Amino acid sequence: MTPPQNNTAPEVLRQHAEQAYAHELAALAQHDRFPRPPKWNLSPRAVLTYLMGGRAGDTEITPKYVGEARLMEIAVATLATDRALLLLGVPGTAKSWVSEHLAAAISGDSTLLVQGTAGTDENAIRYGWNYARLLAEGPSEAALVESPVMHAMRQGKIARLEELTRVQSDVQDTLITILSEKTLPVPELNTEVQAVRGFNLIATANNRDKGVNDLSSALKRRFNTVVLPVPDSLEDELSIVTRRVESLGRSLGLPDLPPALDEIRRVVTVFRELRAGVTEDGKTKLKTPSGSLSVAEAISVVTNGLTLAAHFGDGELSSHDVAASLIGAVVKDPVQDQAVWNEYLETAVKKRAGWKEFYTACREVS
Ligand SMILES: Nc1ncnc2c1ncn2[C@@H]1O[C@H](COP(=O)(O)OP(=O)(O)OP(=O)(O)O)[C@@H](O)[C@H]1O
Ligand SMILES: [Mg+2]
Repeated sequence: MTPPQNNTAPEVLRQHAEQAYAHELAALAQHDRFPRPPKWNLSPRAVLTYLMGGRAGDTEITPKYVGEARLMEIAVATLATDRALLLLGVPGTAKSWVSEHLAAAISGDSTLLVQGTAGTDENAIRYGWNYARLLAEGPSEAALVESPVMHAMRQGKIARLEELTRVQSDVQDTLITILSEKTLPVPELNTEVQAVRGFNLIATANNRDKGVNDLSSALKRRFNTVVLPVPDSLEDELSIVTRRVESLGRSLGLPDLPPALDEIRRVVTVFRELRAGVTEDGKTKLKTPSGSLSVAEAISVVTNGLTLAAHFGDGELSSHDVAASLIGAVVKDPVQDQAVWNEYLETAVKKRAGWKEFYTACREVS
């Protein structure tokens, strides 16, 4: 007998947004009655519906971003102007996620991506060479290897630059000509690439991590900045985590488990309380641990728990399943964070109604 398999699981481990949500994008395009900027697949209004959720004809559009619609309106509108978009925020505030979905909705292509690191050089942003051809034929158009940014300029698409502030300042400044002149000179061929209409750039940057380089003010002026906040309310954060956990579970081929809202609510509560340094009821002050405790980490704690429950548990997510990875997320520094965590368990968790099992599970692994 062959074991049951989840046939809906796609072949690739992670689909690009334009693949995963192809049916939504197609429905939006079909029902879109509003004017589209040059080269855009959708009108700004339809892009907003794609991000915030809604309907397109009979098709339900799932919300991608949970939070203030106004922020997304500003982001989308910026991309229709000649200014680039900078998404700024602490870790796990959906900067990369929003950037991917914007590119997917506007250009139908979220893959024109440069990942910024301390080692990113100018070639990664401009162009490189196929050295075999370069040596054999000398510099020629055929020997030139486009960067994703150059490709986007030629095709009139959205390019993405992740973690812009990790890139060294002089390399960052390569973007100035691209963003202000909309051209990319290629001196070796005595030519230049001029961006066609539809081209724009989305950069993301994190304002908390160590080892970041500030943006020069010349570069800052070329961007409209949208700051993505940590979710306002427990309910918002809960809805983000539940949605993402469901879709991750599906793509990992996990069997459907009964919704474990109580357990997820506990994880999200712990994250929010420790992040804020005070309990949800505002009564008890708490010390905060050194890690960032982002929404992204809450998602991964719950997903790990579900995997444990599915494969080793009785098929229902329990406190026992989330405890170990929850502690891993909170305790990044073995000495200081451990003390913070122990104190949290004793002052906030121990006496809380309905949290007894959770307390015991955490105590067992601490
Ligand atoms: N407001 C939100 N709406 C929808 N999803 C969110 C929201 N905040 C966080 N997420 C989820 O959190 C996860 C992490 O987001 P993402 O990787 O985009 O964070 P980031 O801001 O790029 O973080 P980093 O600075 O670490 O790169 C995503 O799966 C995303 O769905
Ligand atoms: Mg990111």
